[in-house]
Amino acid sequence: MSEATGKVFDVKSFRRTLAFVRPYKTIGILSLVLTVLLSALAPVQPKLIKFTLDNDLVMGRTRQLLYMIILLLAFLLLRGVIQFLNTYYTNLLGQNIIKDMRINLYRHIIDLRLQFYDQTPIGTLCTRVISDIETIADMFSEGLIVMFNQLLTIIVIIIIMFMDDVWMTLLSLSVFPLLLFATYLFQKATQVSFQEVRTQVARLNAFVQEHITGMSVVQIFNREEAEFEKFKQINNAHKIANIKAIWYYSIFFPVVDLLSAMAIAAIVWKGGEGILFHTESFGTVVEFTIYIGILFVPIRQLADKFNTLQMGVVAGQRIFKVFDNESFIEDNGTIHIEKTDGNLIFKNVWFAYSDENWALRNVSFKVDPGQTLAIVGATGAGKSSIINILGRYYEFQKGSILLDGIDIKDIKIETMRRNIAIVLQDVFLFSDSIANNIALYNNNITQDQIEAAAEAIGANEFIKNLPGGYNYNVRERGAMLSAGQRQLVAFIRAYVQNPGVLILDEATSSIDTESEKLIQAAIEKLTEHRTSIIIAHRLATIQRANKILVLDHGEVVEEGTHRELLARNGFYKKLYEIQFEKGERTII
Ligand SMILES: Nc1ncnc2c1ncn2[C@@H]1O[C@H](COP(=O)(O)OP(=O)(O)O)[C@@H](O)[C@H]1O
Ligand SMILES: [Mg+2]
Repeated sequence: MSEATGKVFDVKSFRRTLAFVRPYKTIGILSLVLTVLLSALAPVQPKLIKFTLDNDLVMGRTRQLLYMIILLLAFLLLRGVIQFLNTYYTNLLGQNIIKDMRINLYRHIIDLRLQFYDQTPIGTLCTRVISDIETIADMFSEGLIVMFNQLLTIIVIIIIMFMDDVWMTLLSLSVFPLLLFATYLFQKATQVSFQEVRTQVARLNAFVQEHITGMSVVQIFNREEAEFEKFKQINNAHKIANIKAIWYYSIFFPVVDLLSAMAIAAIVWKGGEGILFHTESFGTVVEFTIYIGILFVPIRQLADKFNTLQMGVVAGQRIFKVFDNESFIEDNGTIHIEKTDGNLIFKNVWFAYSDENWALRNVSFKVDPGQTLAIVGATGAGKSSIINILGRYYEFQKGSILLDGIDIKDIKIETMRRNIAIVLQDVFLFSDSIANNIALYNNNITQDQIEAAAEAIGANEFIKNLPGGYNYNVRERGAMLSAGQRQLVAFIRAYVQNPGVLILDEATSSIDTESEKLIQAAIEKLTEHRTSIIIAHRLATIQRANKILVLDHGEVVEEGTHRELLARNGFYKKLYEIQFEKGERTII
């Protein structure tokens, strides 16, 4: 929330926001015309009343009086209709704008490289896409146009007042300097307190989101009481911030009402004198008391609307900051690959996530079509980084990677990714049916294909036994499935793609022997006749591989088959002893 200090009115971000109005010019113009019309109609009611009082009432024309009242009612009805249309169209405008903005923003962030997501908290992005954009809608429907209407109304009324009676007008406006000063103080105070409220809301959001996600940790370590205390504190701060904002409102509104009452009192006093001495008409005095009413309502709201406007501008600034983030992976490749042969070569590849902290140093290896390469190494050795750069989720700095003899930077990313299926260590499932989690809404994948893939992987049986089978909703992150089952679903997801290259980051967490067997068989099926790279933790997988690459601190230290490497009595032998002979299988 640090960037929420938009003290100055930012014209640039305001203009960029206005650009979103362009497709809805007609609605925008319609809203403006209706707004101008409403302001222009503001003096009609007091004028009609004045006329009725001075001509019909004072002259005692009862019939005329009735006509005037009907006319007045008809006018109020007409104004009501215009008001309705105005509210409808300004909100329509606001909603259309935020719909476009949201779609554009999502379109933008969906292509940002993963590095951006490493560095941006989820909560912050959700706030941008949801509530910040909402604030912009308010700016249009409740801020800008309403403010314009109020300013215009004030101007129209003051002009009419001066035309009617200069002396009475000056009397009515005598409280204005005080009013302006009060408004200024109020606006300043609420601006600060609103910022405070927004900060507290963000804290509350972040806390609830994180702690619900990590609820199991809270409960496992008996932290319920402590976390509850923390939550109460944040909640209390949120309350205090809100009360402070409300406090300013509860002072400001009575102050404005008091000032308006004083203005009316002055009119009644001086106007009453005028009636007695026949220098003012009865109608004029009543007319002016109504003018004061009309004048003070918008003044009372203007300060508030100014806050809405400013909040919209601040939200705009934050949203445009995301729009301005251009950290995309460069997709300059022009070569389309239909179906890869699965010939993969790494040539002296260097890669760092940042600066010169090399996660991979001069890595070279080769996988022939249909072969399986196992990569082993300690935690942090750089195994997963190989996947990250091969799928072009991160850019590597030096060397080259060749697929079918073509530099992958020359290949159109989309066509390359279509040929490479990756199963990550942490399986991510959406809260959706099993079938949708497998096909990921790719219409080319039929239910038959899904079931055939599940059959091949050996998971058909367990899925069929779930309530609803393939329609079973796995809930957020697949919470309704076991770790082994989630892994199998991820395998089917990769298998139905029938990719030329398969990459698998084996899960390190141990699973029950039953699932273990299923998964081992599934891996064999997945890698059959397919170029595969497996970051391997299971002995069975490692032994079956055509070649094993041993990584240490980002460097390839050994390469060969299981037998060859054991015979060499080096790094691999040591890893093997730690991992399998002493039974600590999670170290690699
Ligand atoms: N997203 C990331 N941003 C910055 N550094 C990272 C990121 N992911 C991994 N690293 C660092 O890169 C190195 C290699 O990590 P990784 O390839 O994930 O290792 P492994 O998969 O072998 O356990 C580690 O030092 C790790 O801290
Ligand atoms: Mg890893």
